[in-house]
Amino acid sequence: MGKSSQAEAFWNAVTPEEDAPTGTALGRLRSVVVAGHHLLEQGARAYERALASSCIQIGCPVGLLFILRPGGNALELMASQGLSGCFPDVPTIGLHEGLSGWVATTRQMVVVNDVEADGRFGPVSVLGYRRLSAASVPIEHDGELLGVLTLASPEVNAFAAEDLLVIEALATNLALGLRCRRYREAEARNYLGIIRGLATALEAKDAVTRGHSARVAHMCHHIGRTLGIERPPLERLEVAASLHDIGKIGVPESVLGKPGPLDAAERLRIQQHPVVGAEMLEEIPLVSDLAPVVRGHHERFGGGGYPDGLRGEEIPLHSRIIAVADALDAMLMPRPYRMGRTIEEALAEIEACAGSQFDPRIAEALTLTVTTVGVAHLFPAAQPLREIIT
Ligand SMILES: [Fe+2]
Repeated sequence: MGKSSQAEAFWNAVTPEEDAPTGTALGRLRSVVVAGHHLLEQGARAYERALASSCIQIGCPVGLLFILRPGGNALELMASQGLSGCFPDVPTIGLHEGLSGWVATTRQMVVVNDVEADGRFGPVSVLGYRRLSAASVPIEHDGELLGVLTLASPEVNAFAAEDLLVIEALATNLALGLRCRRYREAEARNYLGIIRGLATALEAKDAVTRGHSARVAHMCHHIGRTLGIERPPLERLEVAASLHDIGKIGVPESVLGKPGPLDAAERLRIQQHPVVGAEMLEEIPLVSDLAPVVRGHHERFGGGGYPDGLRGEEIPLHSRIIAVADALDAMLMPRPYRMGRTIEEALAEIEACAGSQFDPRIAEALTLTVTTVGVAHLFPAAQPLREIIT
């Protein structure tokens, strides 16, 4: 066992987070360390877990973790606890609103031991929870405000001097966690931008396929929402859709743009593109999880697709969604040798192939999506491309 995994095993064995020894130095040290560490996890739940670790050792019922919005003009509530029955649907507060806004503006820790006697803030916060004492601290790194941590209690004098030291330490560690999270997100955006640029460059050579992957990703987003897929899986679906044909980079233009039927060798070449694409993605840690999705986007629900001849739910769900959006875009877009089909014709074709080529549940979700989202929003790029080609 390596040194770091030994340390991790020690912490997990001695102090599982749910029943860390509250009030002890060990429990508090663990919470401070773990709170910032949670912010390095993927997904929005990272903020909830960081806040839970922050609250557990202080023992106060209300906790709020805000981050400063891009542009720096408001605080966004990323996680909360103890707000039941208040205004949990209020996602942001202004920099001059309430205790947390005041702390963001002044960059000073504020401790209120008795709201009534203190007089600076009311007993009901802007988010609607009642408090008689509160502690709020700016989350800063290298002179930059990143967010605010606010803890509150319905009792007076809820925070001992030692609690305040722990809260300051939490803010310091949350700042490190937030900073690392932002670096990681920025790096991921840049990385994905490069890969998507590669896919765009591949399509840009050909007016017929230009914008295809972006349109398919856009449709997948909406179909995914209809199916109840939430972030972060919805984002992974969109990224996979935007890269689904990246394996065509190895197929000659003469084959890709051939107007007539393909010969056997050419067809084989084309049918290798999901494999080539998956192999490319496997080499890139940021998108390696999407390799099976890209590999499966030409499989058929009833079997007989390529490259693996999978069927039904053997095919990854996101591949089945991309398959429907991919086919729809191909039918709507005109080719040099044929007009694009109307949306009614294309939907009828997909419905006719439900069960054989497409997952019936996703074909149904597509029809529902077109009805609820609207053709103009779902296919915003279709018309200009139609005009270019015809
Ligand atoms: Fe494809």
